[in-house]
Amino acid sequence: MEILSFEVLPSTNTYAYEHFDTLKDGQIILAKTQTSGRGRKERVWLSAEGGLYFSLVVKPQNFKIDFLGSLTQAMALSVCKTLHSLGAKEAVLKWPNDILCQGKKICGILSQAVFKEGELCGVVIGVGVNIGQEKIDSPKPAVSLKMLGIKAKQSEVLESIFNNFYTYYPKVCQSGFKAIKEEFLKDFPFVNKEIKIVVDKKEFCGICHGLDDKGQLLLDNKVVNIGDME
Ligand code: BTN
Repeated sequence: MEILSFEVLPSTNTYAYEHFDTLKDGQIILAKTQTSGRGRKERVWLSAEGGLYFSLVVKPQNFKIDFLGSLTQAMALSVCKTLHSLGAKEAVLKWPNDILCQGKKICGILSQAVFKEGELCGVVIGVGVNIGQEKIDSPKPAVSLKMLGIKAKQSEVLESIFNNFYTYYPKVCQSGFKAIKEEFLKDFPFVNKEIKIVVDKKEFCGICHGLDDKGQLLLDNKVVNIGDME
């Protein structure tokens, strides 16, 4: 594992994105805290000391742009497996790529594709995991491993996530979400349940019928490819 470690950064994703050309495939950018941690949909990611904040740079060859979302889902699955191995057996995946414990968010992932002259050069996969925080002041319910009574070292969590990710990565590069669908569904407890999806502030309720081979959500008779599960 190649780690470039900082005490503080505005955002590990911003750093990785801005220095993309000089960073190697597989490089990790790690920060103890972030002053402008970024979440999906222009949201803020609170990044107080105690959490794990890193971005992984991947530069796959001949990568299909359609598989971009699957890489993020492979990272979510990797984090979920790590949390299980640390004793957080209740960790589940929430579509498209959040992780919840007891209904509260414990991990979020923000991926950014990097293009040069219209060509996809790679992806920055940013991961925030709540590990050692005593409390989390976020507008939505959030939890850390410590709040669940689980002690874990940042370095062991990072190493486990990294190793899990590299078991899925070649398969996802080859075949997309299909390669991890079965595994993903094992940790996705919403099939045949009534769920709510928010797309551009509009809410849709329906029965979840699982995920398709592209990682899109099957809601009633619709295929949903953008939005968030509430
Ligand atoms: C989300 O759930 O909205 C995604 C949150 C992603 C947060 C991580 S923390 C490390 C990396 N750097 C950032 O600025 N964001 C990601």
